[in-house]
Amino acid sequence: MLTRHICWYVAVLTYHLKIMASMMKVFLILLQTANVLQPSIPQAAGVQVFPPVNFTLTVSALAQVLLQWKPNPNQEQKTYTIRYDVKILSPVPEEYDTKKTRSIQTAALHNGFSAQVRTLLLHKDLQMRSDWVKEELPPLPGAPETSVTNLSCVTRITVSSAVSLHCTWLPGQRAPEDAKYFLFYRYEMYTEECQDYSKDKWNRNTECRFSVTHIDPEEIDNVIVIHINGSSKYAAIKPFQQLFKQNAIEKVNVPRNVTVFLEQNDLLATWEKPFSPFPEVCFEYEFYLFNLKSGNKQILKISSNYFRLRIDVTSRYSIQIRANHHICCTRGFWSDWSEIIYVGQNKHEDSIAWILSVLCVSMCCTFLLVAIICKINHVWSKVFPPIPTPSNKFRDPFPNDYQRAHTCTSETETEFGSFTEDLYCSPLDDSVF
Ligand SMILES: *[C@@H]1O[C@H](CO)[C@@H](O)[C@H](O)[C@H]1NC(C)=O
Ligand SMILES: *[C@@H]1O[C@H](CO)[C@@H](O)[C@H](O)[C@H]1NC(C)=O
Ligand SMILES: *[C@@H]1O[C@H](CO)[C@@H](O)[C@H](O)[C@H]1NC(C)=O
Ligand SMILES: *[C@@H]1O[C@H](CO)[C@@H](O)[C@H](O)[C@H]1NC(C)=O
Repeated sequence: MLTRHICWYVAVLTYHLKIMASMMKVFLILLQTANVLQPSIPQAAGVQVFPPVNFTLTVSALAQVLLQWKPNPNQEQKTYTIRYDVKILSPVPEEYDTKKTRSIQTAALHNGFSAQVRTLLLHKDLQMRSDWVKEELPPLPGAPETSVTNLSCVTRITVSSAVSLHCTWLPGQRAPEDAKYFLFYRYEMYTEECQDYSKDKWNRNTECRFSVTHIDPEEIDNVIVIHINGSSKYAAIKPFQQLFKQNAIEKVNVPRNVTVFLEQNDLLATWEKPFSPFPEVCFEYEFYLFNLKSGNKQILKISSNYFRLRIDVTSRYSIQIRANHHICCTRGFWSDWSEIIYVGQNKHEDSIAWILSVLCVSMCCTFLLVAIICKINHVWSKVFPPIPTPSNKFRDPFPNDYQRAHTCTSETETEFGSFTEDLYCSPLDDSVF
């Protein structure tokens, strides 16, 4: 009875499931046809999309281009939303859309710049696009391979919360010997020329320092533009531009107030974040632990400013810490290592080793001395052969001295060229009486 009931239920259930599956199929097919049909609806409605007009590119600052265009006068705008697709083709491809008719781009312009724009028509669910209009800026003029190469820049946050900037570069391979380079930096709307250059052996500028800049130390990942042009009697020097992310070229300051001590078998270290406007959570550290006894090196990554580690207490360690920021902004250059701190002592073993070596040296000296003495004695005994002393084998029947004393006779024998010293002691008998 029961099994028949169950079978019946199962049969009904599978039937219903089958119906649901086929309904889903139909629904999906309907959805797909709707999707396929949708884009063709506006064409049917006869709406036309015209590209923007008077598209221009203007250099508005160092490594900055202003893109501007006008809506097409033929474009009817009544019930539609008009936006623009912008596509930067070079030097760095990028795509975005905007409802404005202008846009500012920051890019290195020495190899030119090109971009295109089109109208984007939006109406409820429909989207229509016009053709592209393209515009470009030519590369900056100059002879090939005269621009600088290998440009690298570093910023530092100084104690007075200013940001210093230091850049180095190499003259272009085909730059004449009289080439003179000039460096400019731009940060937001500030542009400044370098006043403090260092030169190579041909007197060409290859290094520049700004001890103070307009760079805001609290800003996150703003762009620093570097522009280097030059002049020469023999060739036109092609300018060079490079963009740097502010935090990515920051040489982070060294962690401060590092203290290290031992607690039983543990090494404990604490320190303070480097001088910086960023809060403590932004920093990570590298902890360098060197075991002076075994020569083992360890570098540990730490994200707090506290550290505890079980160590071998019989060893002496040297410790250094360096910092970098992460999380809050792009990682910069690791700070220098903090000053070396030593902890732990193998003093005990040191002193044993010291005593052992002193003992060893003194023993060696003694042996050497003895050997020298022997040698001298050997020679001496050859020059003046020893007079054999009468051996005291018989008891003196008439001892003339009644003192209780011992007399020792030293007998020197020369046998087989070796030196032996025998001490022959004869207790003087007073038993005669
Ligand atoms: C485009 O530029 C031309 C010539 O510079 C000018 O006559 C015309 O009015 C401009 N078009 C628009 C829509 O601003
Ligand atoms: C300059 O950069 C090139 C390519 O990046 C590299 O191969 C070369 O070693 C660099 N020269 C120096 C002196 O750093
Ligand atoms: C270098 O560039 C600066 C900034 O654009 C400009 O004022 C200067 O005239 C240029 N110098 C040379 C020699 O091209
Ligand atoms: C480092 O320690 C000194 C003296 O203990 C203290 O005056 C100073 O404020 C500390 N520095 C930091 C950054 O906490």
